[in-house]
Amino acid sequence: MRVNGRDYRTIWIDEDDRLKVIDQRALPHRFVTLVLEDFEAVRRAIADMTVRGAGLIGATAAFGMWRAALEAPRDSDGAFETYLQEAGSSLRATRPTASNLSWAVERQMAAIAKVTGIEAKIATARETAVATADEDAECGRRIGAHGARLIQAIAARKGKGPVNILTHCNAGWLAFVDYGSALAPIYAAVEAGIDVHVWVDETRPRNQGASLTAWELGAHGIPHSLIVDNAGGHLMQHGLVDAVFVGADRVTRRGDVANKIGTYLKACAAMDNGVPFYVALPSSTFDLSMSDGLADIPIEERAEDEVRYVSGVVDGASSSGPSFDKAQIVSVRICPEATRARNWGFDVTPARLVTGLVTERGVAAPSEEGIKCLFPELFS
Ligand code: MRU
Repeated sequence: MRVNGRDYRTIWIDEDDRLKVIDQRALPHRFVTLVLEDFEAVRRAIADMTVRGAGLIGATAAFGMWRAALEAPRDSDGAFETYLQEAGSSLRATRPTASNLSWAVERQMAAIAKVTGIEAKIATARETAVATADEDAECGRRIGAHGARLIQAIAARKGKGPVNILTHCNAGWLAFVDYGSALAPIYAAVEAGIDVHVWVDETRPRNQGASLTAWELGAHGIPHSLIVDNAGGHLMQHGLVDAVFVGADRVTRRGDVANKIGTYLKACAAMDNGVPFYVALPSSTFDLSMSDGLADIPIEERAEDEVRYVSGVVDGASSSGPSFDKAQIVSVRICPEATRARNWGFDVTPARLVTGLVTERGVAAPSEEGIKCLFPELFS
């Protein structure tokens, strides 16, 4: 997608074979790209959320396995593979909820195991990482096309005025390699000439809605309004939301959805008000080893200081123009010093609250039969 008139992906290999990413911790105040020099830098970038979002975590992990392959001992196939197993386990431990991470590590391990000779294994790891990233971007493009048809149908029913879509967190191109999941249909609909307005949940505690979704939509000229996390129910009661589109970090075989904390409450409000609630995801986010999302999906608990503090820039600092690169990001405490906090990153929305799963192959009913209909090979 475009930043300051230039096309970017969120992760890429540059002409000097260096792995590069956008530092999402600095957005929307500064646009910074970083080189991830080695495996440890890749692992840290996932853990400290330099990169985040299900698809991007998966693609980054795939590139991390390539870096690990470059650094692994070469004296025997056994030592090489043990090193990679350990690298895979340490990547998996960084962000436990998004299934794309394990999926990407397993895909790399399977691809590497198929070839013989260490140089060939390293080359395979690079090819697999590039393919994982390319496929992620292509899935986003297709999700966009399928989801845009849903928005088009809402626009046709509505007749006049913009289609008002509520989204939570950031499931745009920054959460993937390109295009995104929940925002991809919005980009495609706007490109097709449909009038869309987006309600952007700020998404405490890290405010990915305020910092990332608002920045993405603004950069692409999509009309949007930032709202506090608790406003969605009120808007739905007053007919101001035509549909909810969210992303997903893991979806079970029966269609239960783990997504950013607060998603479940939006789904309850949507159900109570007859508002369609769509979940957009690439098939790499399905975890068919799990059925009951509430019982089975591991929910990441993060540092309490993400709740106790908020970060931003002091008014007057610019997010564009000459002072763009100099904006000073500061962090302020919002509670008494002695107050402790708990910080669950995700919650689970049961399939019964989901209208449809928007995937790269079309819209699936949120059930085992629905998913199987579009992705039979995942069940074999
Ligand atoms: O904690 P993050 O920022 O990695 O959270 C992931 C998310 O952005 C959301 O849960 C998103 O809706 C799903 S990821 C496409």
